[in-house]
Amino acid sequence: MELRIWALRILLLGSVFVNLGLGEPVEDKQALLDFLAGVPSGHALNWNEGTTVCGNWRGVICNKELSRVVELRLPGIGFNGRIPSNTLSRLNGLQILSLRANGLTGPFPADFSNFTALTGLHLQLNSFYGSLPSNFSVWKNLTVLDLSYNNFNGSIPASISSLTHLTSLNLSNNSLSGLILDLQFPTLQLLNLSNNHFSGSVPKSLQRFPASSFTGNDLTQVFPASQPPLPSQSTPFDSPTRTSSGRKISESALLGIVVGASVLVFAVIAILLVLCYSRKNNESIASGKESKGLDTPEKGGAVSRDENNPLVFFEGCTFAFDLEDLLRASAEVLGKGTYGTSYKALLEDATIVVVKRLKEVSAGKKDFVLQMETVGNICHDNVVKLKAFYYSKDEKLIVYDYYSQGSVSSMLHGNQGGGRTELDWETRLRVALGVARGITHIHSENGGKLVHGNIKCSNVFLNSHNYGCLSDLGLAAIVSPAVPHMSRISGYWAPEVVDPRKASQASDVYSFGVLILELLTGKSPIQKTGGRDEVVHLVRWVNSVVREEWTAEVFDARLMRYPNIEEEMVEMLRVAMTCVAKVPEQRPKMPEVVRMVEDITRLDGGTGSRPSAEGRVED
Ligand SMILES: *[C@@H]1O[C@H](CO)[C@@H](O)[C@H](O)[C@H]1NC(C)=O
Ligand SMILES: *[C@@H]1O[C@H](CO)[C@@H](O)[C@H](O)[C@H]1NC(C)=O
Ligand SMILES: *[C@@H]1O[C@H](CO)[C@@H](O)[C@H](O)[C@H]1NC(C)=O
Ligand SMILES: *[C@@H]1O[C@H](CO)[C@@H](O)[C@H](O)[C@H]1NC(C)=O
Ligand SMILES: *[C@@H]1O[C@H](CO)[C@@H](O)[C@H](O)[C@H]1NC(C)=O
Ligand SMILES: *[C@@H]1O[C@H](CO)[C@@H](O)[C@H](O)[C@H]1NC(C)=O
Ligand SMILES: *[C@@H]1O[C@H](CO)[C@@H](O)[C@H](O)[C@H]1NC(C)=O
Repeated sequence: MELRIWALRILLLGSVFVNLGLGEPVEDKQALLDFLAGVPSGHALNWNEGTTVCGNWRGVICNKELSRVVELRLPGIGFNGRIPSNTLSRLNGLQILSLRANGLTGPFPADFSNFTALTGLHLQLNSFYGSLPSNFSVWKNLTVLDLSYNNFNGSIPASISSLTHLTSLNLSNNSLSGLILDLQFPTLQLLNLSNNHFSGSVPKSLQRFPASSFTGNDLTQVFPASQPPLPSQSTPFDSPTRTSSGRKISESALLGIVVGASVLVFAVIAILLVLCYSRKNNESIASGKESKGLDTPEKGGAVSRDENNPLVFFEGCTFAFDLEDLLRASAEVLGKGTYGTSYKALLEDATIVVVKRLKEVSAGKKDFVLQMETVGNICHDNVVKLKAFYYSKDEKLIVYDYYSQGSVSSMLHGNQGGGRTELDWETRLRVALGVARGITHIHSENGGKLVHGNIKCSNVFLNSHNYGCLSDLGLAAIVSPAVPHMSRISGYWAPEVVDPRKASQASDVYSFGVLILELLTGKSPIQKTGGRDEVVHLVRWVNSVVREEWTAEVFDARLMRYPNIEEEMVEMLRVAMTCVAKVPEQRPKMPEVVRMVEDITRLDGGTGSRPSAEGRVED
């Protein structure tokens, strides 16, 4: 008896140790949860009490010992209102805090003085107001301070001189006033005080910074810039005058420099784009894997940004990034598709998204935005969520969720082995059913008029329940395919489709039929046969085989090892064949197709009698 109780105690203790063994800063976790509960309107973060904070929670980074939260990066989450006091400030091991590009307001949070280990503070692009913190000496280790684009007013407190490690200070676009202090920052490399109400002159110690660090103030003196952006424009700076007319000359010269510099930048970008464009045309699909920021020019053209065209997000998305993040993100080329190149982008807060750069957008801005809004508001388990889009004259981007397993096409036709998911029969059925449901939903949108237009295996992914999930929705209508006469070589397009931009719901049904055939046969919709550029369409081939009564021959040999599935395969084949009827009017409508596939699979509330390789996944 005694022994039994001891054994029980040890067991219980054991489980306590297991919990502790997860190792996480419990108090910091609570502080984060309190912050989230108290700050208005943050979009859903994956901060679940049940998961460990280190390594799982978005934007949170712990130290090696997993004993403290040391970095918190939550840019563009959509927070607004005030930071609840005594929440974040309890994270006093914090070294980097980034809350930039939110809608946060209120005075500078007084309890941030708790962050004595802080090295980087990024609060730019919010609506904080009032005076700057009076005692900067609490952040002795601070190296980067960015408070730009807020509404801070008053003067810069003298205590800022205690930030002896500061390398970057950005206070631009606030309402700060008073004199610019003679700050002796030996380590300071980047300074921006522009667009405030500073008066007086630029102290000697700061005259090593370019004029653009100080523009947009009420300064009485313009100093000789030691590194003028364009040497040819620097003449007016060589003899500074303190008269008002001197000031005018200098301002127009400044304007000249800014304009000149922009022209130069544009010229460089244009040249790079031309260079990259000609190089790009020689690259093949899914060529090399690179890993650089999207805006590095070597990488297929600098992405141009345009202040007037924001990145547009959709409801239900976590607003965890802005265009700057995307451009900074390290990106890898995923592949070059019909409508442009896709990149996998790893964002600052460790989320991964797919960014697609659309090449030939044929629609104008209004139609593009309308279409994107229609598509972006679709929320369905079997449709890949469009997270955001960006439209400017030179650049059209769309942002999707990333699926680490790759597309169904790569699972079906890619190299087997290498840890790839094997597409067993059960999974293929779930792919078909998921896609059918996705299309049905799409066809019910926009007053029952929406068309997908580009249904194919490489646009299908597995959702969290391992059902098919359809991507690239609605692009066909607004983008011209990169390769003309794509319909001839794709194999998915219905015979009546000449211009893919004019796809219809009936042609979607046809494409879906081809997709099922692909799942059944394991063959691509277009097969090159030995001779000169001769191709065989999958539909025609299946038709001929079935006509000759060799039905068993059409199925993917890899499916032969699953027992008792012949009947289901034949039924699926029948559904596919009705979908690929030559005459559009003879094809079934999608809801009917879903019913037929459901009848075959009985995955939903079925008998569950079919043996499965890896067990049933419930929807
Ligand atoms: C500062 O940190 C300490 C220790 O975590 C905490 O007890 C205190 O509440 C914090 N101060 C403020 C003002 O939040
Ligand atoms: C400041 O940085 C130094 C050197 O990295 C470190 O030893 C010290 O603990 C830091 N100070 C605080 C308050 O964290
Ligand atoms: C500013 O903060 C430092 C470090 O916490 C402290 O020693 C000093 O007394 C404070 N100064 C004022 C004027 O509050
Ligand atoms: C700063 O702005 C606040 C209102 O936001 C105002 O009450 C205060 O007087 C201003 N201070 C200065 C020095 O302009
Ligand atoms: C603030 O200035 C620094 C240094 O010039 C720069 O790196 C940073 O991007 C600027 N921040 C914003 C929001 O422009
Ligand atoms: C920055 O400040 C300048 C001058 O006040 C203003 O013209 C500009 O619009 C501001 N920029 C932004 C992005 O707010
Ligand atoms: C400072 O900021 C202004 C406006 O945000 C920008 O035009 C200027 O180029 C910046 N200067 C430097 C040196 O970063």
